[in-house]
Amino acid sequence: PQETTAARTPDRQVSPLVIAHRGASGYAPENTLAAADAAKALGIEWVENDVHRTKDGVLVVLHDTDLKRTTNVEEVFPGRAPWAVKDFTAAEVAKLDAGSWFGKQFTGARVPTLTQFVDRLERNRQKLLLEIKSPATYPGIERDILRVLGREGWLDRSHVRNRLVIQSFGADSVKKVHALRPDITTGFLGTPAVADLPKYAAFTDQINPSHTTIGADYVAAVQRLKGPHGKRLRVNTWTVNDAANAAKVRGYGVDGIITNYPDVVRGATR
Ligand code: G3P
Ligand code: CA
Repeated sequence: PQETTAARTPDRQVSPLVIAHRGASGYAPENTLAAADAAKALGIEWVENDVHRTKDGVLVVLHDTDLKRTTNVEEVFPGRAPWAVKDFTAAEVAKLDAGSWFGKQFTGARVPTLTQFVDRLERNRQKLLLEIKSPATYPGIERDILRVLGREGWLDRSHVRNRLVIQSFGADSVKKVHALRPDITTGFLGTPAVADLPKYAAFTDQINPSHTTIGADYVAAVQRLKGPHGKRLRVNTWTVNDAANAAKVRGYGVDGIITNYPDVVRGATR
């Protein structure tokens, strides 16, 4: 089972954890409940997703800071350019179709709230790698996220230990999460210089870099360090969507691979 990789020491023979990027977003519209379900159907437990905040303070699951690419917002709310999530209320966002751009069979899929998303993961017995997107756009979003997760039962001991990681490209945002709830596993998205890694190890358990920026030496340099919980730092790389790159990063010894096509990556890294 995938969980066994959590306790392993660096060992290139062990298959990396496969994480569904925005859900299994090669097969269903990204960051929708259908994408979580598609990951589940492939036997994938860990689901990566992105979170933003509406005008009225509701957390919603979406990748872009605007609603244009993955919803019909231009049709429903013409003249509201640039269609930034932060300029729409949750009730307005709930009216949008977030599925038909991907395929007719997904027409009617919605932009889920974070509450709806974690409820679905709970029902599916899945795990959450949550990315705080554009934290500077949403002052205080870290507290908001923890409030929602706490209300939904995702900050109890069992979820925090086994089913939740919070990551961001914003180091300050990761630091805030760590300061607010030091027990939560955190991830920094990016490829810090090796010399700077010890600074990151003070507040993050994972360094999660683009696969185009790493090699075996970098992965080993990260994994040599211990994070704030006394365990070695882990490396989950993104976004690996083909068998050749999956085999390549497996050879680097990464701990996890974030992918739109979990079945392809699993097949190439078993
Ligand atoms: O989880 C890593 C990956 O999602 C970061 O890039 O743009 O897909 O959020 P992006
Ligand atoms: Ca992401």
